[in-house]
Amino acid sequence: MPEFDRKILVLFAHPGLENSRCNQALKEAVCEMSGVTFHDLYAVYPDFAINVKAEQTLLTDHDAVIFQFPFYWYSTPAILKEWQDLVLEHGWAYGQEGNQLQGKLFGVVTTSGGGPEAYQRGGYNHYTMNELLHPLERTAILCGMRWLLPFAVQHALTIEDHELVEAAKHYRRYLEAIRDDTLDLNALPESGLINTFA
Ligand SMILES: Cc1cc2nc3c(=O)[nH]c(=O)nc-3n(C[C@H](O)[C@H](O)[C@H](O)COP(=O)(O)O)c2cc1C
Repeated sequence: MPEFDRKILVLFAHPGLENSRCNQALKEAVCEMSGVTFHDLYAVYPDFAINVKAEQTLLTDHDAVIFQFPFYWYSTPAILKEWQDLVLEHGWAYGQEGNQLQGKLFGVVTTSGGGPEAYQRGGYNHYTMNELLHPLERTAILCGMRWLLPFAVQHALTIEDHELVEAAKHYRRYLEAIRDDTLDLNALPESGLINTFA
């Protein structure tokens, strides 16, 4: 079993994967990568009965946590909220002696119907994607994790096949850079999106 600088846990949530084009393509690019545990929450917990201890053990065993999901109602699909509410326990993830996630990386990989022009001041959605994800950012920081700017595939409903192929390759390179510690965390932009891994 090869050793990597970081083991990555991808927490994947899509409530209608059979109709997914974008997340399915992104999933296929990374789900069998060495050093990556791809954990499909809707497949494992179709009844939302999340096994808190099993999820905490998975977190303990990894150095970076990625939420991958389609952007729904300016937020995550419901199971990711349920997962946060149950798994990130006081005294374990935060609070006095709640230090189990300290120092891990936390990233978001999402797909959105809207494009960059919609996610800006004066645009259709008024706020940037990064601003809309502030609750996740604060949650990660409260738990002592390092927040990475979102990796977003936008115009998800109209993206051309060849663009989606490129986006999936970029996603894979992004996870490779996290895994192999070649991502220069200090050189990342302070706002915007991380979505160019040429
Ligand atoms: C219930 C629902 C809510 C959505 N909310 C948003 C939204 O808030 N912002 C947005 O840009 N797109 C929104 N969309 C579009 C999805 O983000 C888009 O369909 C998805 O990213 C495509 O990925 P997929 O091919 O993997 O399903 C929404 C779609 C659905 C079904």
